[in-house]
Amino acid sequence: MCGIFGFVSKKPVTGIGNMLQALKKLEYRGYDSTGIAVVTQKGIYSQKKAGRISKLEPFLDKKVLGSVFIGHTRWATHGKPSDKNAHPHFGCDNKIQIVHNGIIENYKSLKHELEGRGHRFKSDTDSEVFAHLVEEFLGRKNGSEIRYFEEAVRLSLKRIKGAYAFAVIHQNYPKVIIVAKNSSPLLIGLSDQAKYIASDPIALLRHTRKVIYLNDQELAIVTPDQLKISTLQNKEILRKYQEVSWSEDAVRKTGFTHFMEKEIFEEPEAVENAIRGRLIVSQGLAKLGGLESVRQKLESVKRLIITACGTAFFSGLVGEYMLEEFAGLPVEVESGSELRYKRSPFDDKSALLAVSQSGETADTLGSIKEIKKTGLLTLGLVNTVGSSIARETNAGVYNHAGPEISVASTKVFISQLAVFALLTLFLGRQRSMSKNMGKLIASELTLIPRKLRTILESSVYIKRVARKYFKYNNFLFLGRKFNYPIALEGALKLKEVSYIHAEGYGAGDMKHGPLALIDENFPSIVIAPKDSVYDKVVSNMEELKARKGKIIIITTSGNKGLDKLADEVLYIPKTIEMLTPLLTVMPLHLLAYYMGVFRGHDVDKPRNLAKSVTVE
Ligand code: G6P
Repeated sequence: MCGIFGFVSKKPVTGIGNMLQALKKLEYRGYDSTGIAVVTQKGIYSQKKAGRISKLEPFLDKKVLGSVFIGHTRWATHGKPSDKNAHPHFGCDNKIQIVHNGIIENYKSLKHELEGRGHRFKSDTDSEVFAHLVEEFLGRKNGSEIRYFEEAVRLSLKRIKGAYAFAVIHQNYPKVIIVAKNSSPLLIGLSDQAKYIASDPIALLRHTRKVIYLNDQELAIVTPDQLKISTLQNKEILRKYQEVSWSEDAVRKTGFTHFMEKEIFEEPEAVENAIRGRLIVSQGLAKLGGLESVRQKLESVKRLIITACGTAFFSGLVGEYMLEEFAGLPVEVESGSELRYKRSPFDDKSALLAVSQSGETADTLGSIKEIKKTGLLTLGLVNTVGSSIARETNAGVYNHAGPEISVASTKVFISQLAVFALLTLFLGRQRSMSKNMGKLIASELTLIPRKLRTILESSVYIKRVARKYFKYNNFLFLGRKFNYPIALEGALKLKEVSYIHAEGYGAGDMKHGPLALIDENFPSIVIAPKDSVYDKVVSNMEELKARKGKIIIITTSGNKGLDKLADEVLYIPKTIEMLTPLLTVMPLHLLAYYMGVFRGHDVDKPRNLAKSVTVE
């Protein structure tokens, strides 16, 4: 995935400190190596190293003066994390330097061709071919006119296949960064003193809130006084900037040890922000401004396909249970990485809903683009305003959860569940949901934030349970119906941040396999609120107990009937069945967090993972 940041300033500055601060904000996108490059009067100063930004920092001369800075934090795809594979990459003579986020699919044939022309490669990456391509097209036209540089980048872009966000600099152009985008995100920030480029607006908040997003297959010439955006065919594009509303505090830990802890403690607020101004409780209605333009079309939709990846996929599964039972709408949930290559038949009464925190996940975005070809209505449930998925879909709903920094998604997951409840009301009342049912769902939804806060009050107890169990190497998570996807989410979260093997299963399916694993060393975490499948789940717990399995149970407060079965009980407040996932998931997020901390891991940046996966 990788993070890119850079700027061009009016006057030469010692900007490496600013660069590193911004890159640290992007470390969630990848953190296995780091590099920077600065165009100085004496040529390009650049340094790169395997490891986190802090590893590179001591090697940098922070007094270097320049007007053009680019930097990169990497998540390896081609070539292992090492000094030579870190970005920036150079052409043969180091005059051209590039940083890249994405995958160049045809790099092997290009590399072969360029080697045939005498280019010498120094890394194992796909990215390096781009620096050599630009060098090749620029040839000897190293005059000071930007148009030569621009043309060389444009011709190079036309030769490559795949996903990219590039920033390219050249020693002879001390006031220019050329950027280009296809699939991977890239935006430009505007201020009076400088122009910025970044993979995510959170890297820009200290400098500016005025941003312009590049679209796919666009290129921009960024100088302190000029911004020229054009297509690969050189058709110029005029685009107005938009304002980012996120506060800077949202990207600080503000007293918490980790972003993950902070973000779990923000879950009540995330639900408040998702539902604010969107409920008319007395009418049992949901108001979703982003869907107004397609309200009529939605009335005739007979089938909804939800697509998403990772945690967002599990929120889609909860959405399926909500929408089918309460809105009477047939739903299927497809992983983004599968849907894009599946040849499912769709009729014009189907609609697609893509769910994504970042709005940039390549597989989810790829599915939208495929499905759009069939003419289907596409919707987005997205947290990042202005992101690719938000722009690619016909209409949608924003989470308004604020930035989420920890790689493992927590507050946005719960916010997605809240939006699915709103969507159930919206689509349900368009269909057969009664006003009374609408009123019940709406009023219960408004109570969820307060109930989440009472769960947070028991975080000390949840921490104690985590301390008792963090040395176990395997866990089984079980849930049924609305809480089946929560079992999947609980297992994923534990895997991600504690590296403990965990399986999420439907409680009813446990006897078809996982039960064989159970003994006194293989504990289960069972989600068993007092709901329509409670008695069935209790029978499943009996089966675990009979095999000496230890059981941690999440159930509704006041339910004292499980003491004989449970080794530990975590209570959630009462709510209607449909909304229980919004409460049962919080103890699981806390358990995963504390176990990860007790195991000594960097829970915000789990090994091998990245928050925004913009490659396939
Ligand atoms: C990555 C992250 C997950 C996230 C998934 C989907 O795998 O590590 O936490 O759920 O991407 O991301 P999205 O931004 O589309 O929700």
